Amino acid sequence: MSMTTAQDPRLDPRLEAFEARIARGEKIEPGDWMPDEYRRQLIRMISQHAHSEYVGMLPEGEWITRAPSLRRKMILMAKVQDEAGHGQYLYHAAETLGATREDMMDALLSGRAKYSSIFNYPSLTWADVGMIGWLVDGAAIKNQTMLAGCSYGPYSRAMVRICSEETFHHKQGKEMILTYAAGTPAQRRMAQDALNRWWWPSLMMLGPHDQDSPNTAVLSRWGIKLKSNDEVRQEFINEHVPELLEAGLSIPDPDLRFDEASGNWIHGPINWDEFWAVVKGNGPMNRARLEARRFAHEDGAWVREALAAYGARSQAQAAD
Ligand SMILES: [Fe+2]
Ligand SMILES: [Fe+2]
Repeated sequence: MSMTTAQDPRLDPRLEAFEARIARGEKIEPGDWMPDEYRRQLIRMISQHAHSEYVGMLPEGEWITRAPSLRRKMILMAKVQDEAGHGQYLYHAAETLGATREDMMDALLSGRAKYSSIFNYPSLTWADVGMIGWLVDGAAIKNQTMLAGCSYGPYSRAMVRICSEETFHHKQGKEMILTYAAGTPAQRRMAQDALNRWWWPSLMMLGPHDQDSPNTAVLSRWGIKLKSNDEVRQEFINEHVPELLEAGLSIPDPDLRFDEASGNWIHGPINWDEFWAVVKGNGPMNRARLEARRFAHEDGAWVREALAAYGARSQAQAAD
């Protein structure tokens, strides 16, 4: 493996020891020495991940008041609440690296920060709630299971806990779509329409192809990313294609085929122009999502003030 001069372990014994720990499978913890680039990459990834959980509440949260039954409403409320909790774990994990909540919020609300492209698509029908659970949470689990093995302790432990909740999100979505796919003609059409709109964005959300993913090399060297985007995407496709077909749905990819030799389902070309347009702020819902987050932030200012006042008073009482 080629190394740049700045990262050459022969020039910094701390780096050599750090890389040896990672090679032994040890976790790096907040107080430990780490290269600046390791810290920078983790803050970038973990804060983007936290923002994705936060913004990810919006497409489904819109449907809570319109859920077709009390059971579905309770499930959806629990799921959206989980996503808020995932955002909290992850903001805390980023804080252990020196990032501040204020900076991260400012980056999100000002539009400087990135978050998952998938949440910039609209949820047009109730079936979208099911399809998001099955596909989007399904794709997220593939990525997050990989991250649960990553070298940074707080991120890895947050992922273990988050993945167990994502499994419930995935199951409820799948159960919903299987019900509609076997339901009335109108329900079947609704499920198919949701698949038509969410399939490609779900493949895109796992990130660019490996050759177009500039951070992958350093992230894999330091045990942050244990699999490449294309490997994770292949796992997702191999699991989900047979199940969607089994449900009687058709996948909106005329080039999709099963390759006997590798045992993989091979997808047709992905529209990366669409992906980059969405990432750069020009997806169908980017502006609406940020406006909703800004409104929630401003509307919730009194809660933050009350918590700070309560905290200060409790500390003063404890000191007496
Ligand atoms: Fe989540
Ligand atoms: Fe989820």
